This record gives sequence, structure tokens and C-alpha cells, in this order.
Amino acid sequence: MASKIEIKDVKDPNEIKKFEDIQFKVWGGGVVPSHLIVAVKEVGGVVKGAYVDRELVGFVYGFIGKYKGRYCVYSHQLAVLPQYQNLGIGEKLKLEQMRWSRDNGYDLIIWTFDPARSKNAWLNIGKLGVVTNTYLVEHYGEMEDELNRGVPSDRFMVEWWIKSPWIEERPRYRYDKDLKFEYGIALSLIKDDVKISPSEVRHLEDEYIAIEIPIDFDNLGQDTQRLKRIWKLRMREAFQHYFSRGYTIVHFVRNQYMDRGIYILKRGFDPYDKFTW
Ligand SMILES: CC(C)(COP(=O)(O)OP(=O)(O)OC[C@H]1O[C@@H](n2cnc3c(N)ncnc32)[C@H](O)[C@@H]1OP(=O)(O)O)[C@@H](O)C(=O)NCCC(=O)NCCS
Repeated sequence: MASKIEIKDVKDPNEIKKFEDIQFKVWGGGVVPSHLIVAVKEVGGVVKGAYVDRELVGFVYGFIGKYKGRYCVYSHQLAVLPQYQNLGIGEKLKLEQMRWSRDNGYDLIIWTFDPARSKNAWLNIGKLGVVTNTYLVEHYGEMEDELNRGVPSDRFMVEWWIKSPWIEERPRYRYDKDLKFEYGIALSLIKDDVKISPSEVRHLEDEYIAIEIPIDFDNLGQDTQRLKRIWKLRMREAFQHYFSRGYTIVHFVRNQYMDRGIYILKRGFDPYDKFTW
């Protein structure tokens, strides 16, 4: 029989305590203590858990913040236990957070994510419809958890305009072959027998720009740790260049061989103005 997935408010502090264990299993360190999340729940934040057959397998929480002069929901952590990933649970948690935010009068949810993480890019941009033109250098300083140790903690700050037409009506593309427009490739992935490395950044003027990243950032072949740093710095250069020239990330797709993810940036984008997309 298929398992039942439920998304629920988590109010019991003993239940929130279990978030620490999930964080440890997901990130391998850098755990946010549960008493902080209890405080978030108490003073107007949103704390949701995902349950499979009544067992807690994931969570999301956020609190009210002010960003670019506007009150919004800031979503701090989303996590799903490894053995329950890729089943749509992360998406369900975020959609429930969206419902809560709309019901409580907010039109914007923001959060950060690592530009090098293809899966997060697909979930956030492809499935949920966030956009971004904000690049944060070394946002969390040096990080000690297993996923982030030894590489710059650069992040996007993404914007999820949950009441905009973009969310429901945007064109959906899953693979590069689905894209309905021409684009220039500003950063490409180069694969040989031993490694996966980035090209130099190209400075282009096209309306749409593509920036490629590895599908699996933790496996870049020989000397992965050194390559991770090189990739991060190359991405930083590319995104900073295009963001400062009026481009916004609006799509994320994969290629048919599933060896790379591709960010698609558009010049002059507004999620409320349908004539620009
Ligand atoms: C990010 C995370 C919360 C997503 O949860 P999840 O339940 O696996 O998410 P979903 O199943 O809803 O969506 C994942 C999607 O990525 C796809 N995917 C998996 N690996 C991928 C990859 N390398 N590149 C692109 N897409 C990938 C899955 O196929 C799925 O898409 P689909 O439904 O279209 O097939 C979970 O992977 C996690 O806990 N990661 C570690 C912690 C983290 O990064 N948290 C978020 C930042 S705070």
C-alpha cells in the first residue's frame, strides 16, 4: 500500500527537537538548535513538518522579515531525510508554506540557496517558480558541515512572488530541448575522462543567457575539492556580471544526457508584467 504523506503544523517542542536529528542527517553538522525554532513558531513564524506514516521525515520553517523595504516571509531551512528525497515532499512543504503566507497576507517569500546545487535549483526555479538577481558573496562565512566545508558560502537570495501571475502562468521547461527561444551560453561545462570543469565566462549581449553547472557538485572527478572551488568562483564571476547588467534567472533546465543543469537568465524581467515574459 502506498505511504501517506501529510504536511502539518509542528507545535510540540519535543517534536521540533527531532528537527536537529534531521538536520544532522541531511547536512552532517551546523545544526540550528530547536529552541530557536520553537521561538520562531511562538512569535508569528511558520513551522511545518512532513510525515510519512506518522513519522517525521522533513520540515520547513520561516519567520517574518523585512527585505528591500517590504515585510515578507524569510524561509530559513528546508530539509527532507535522504531516503525520502525526490518523492515530492520538499515541494509539498514549500507549497504549504506558500498557502500559509498567502493566508496571512504576504506576497513574497525569500530564502537563500547555493548556486552550485542543481537539485535545489530545479526545485526552487523549475518546480516552484522563484526568480533571482541577487548574488551574496560568502554569505554564511566559513561553514563546517559536510556539504559546505572548504568552499565559499556564496548564495542566491531568491524571491518567490506568490501572488504574481508568473507562479501559475509561466512557461514550464524541464529540458534544454524544450526551450522556445534562442540563448547565448556564457559559461559551459567541459567534461573529459577525468574531470568536469568550467569554461571561461563569456560576455554576451543576448536577451537570454545560459549558465551551465554540474548535475552533481560533489562528484567532479579527480581532485573534486579543488574543482569545487574553481567552479564556485567561476559561477560568482558569471552571475555577478549578468546580474549587474539587468539579467534575472527565470528558468532552470537539464540537458538530455542529465550531466548538467542550465540556468536561464533574461534581461529586463518583472514577474508581474506578462508582456516582458
Ligand atoms: C532540497 C530538498 C529539501 C528537496 O527535497 P525533496 O523532497 O527531495 O524535493 P522534491 O522531491 O520535491 O524535488 C526534487 C526534484 O529534484 C529532482 N532532482 C534530483 N536530483 C537532481 C539533480 N541533481 N539536478 C536536478 N534535479 C534533480 C528530482 O527529480 C525532483 O524533481 P521532479 O519531481 O521534477 O522529478 C532535499 O533534497 C534536502 O533536504 N536537501 C539537503 C538540504 C537542502 O539543500 N535544503 C535546502 C536548502 S536550505
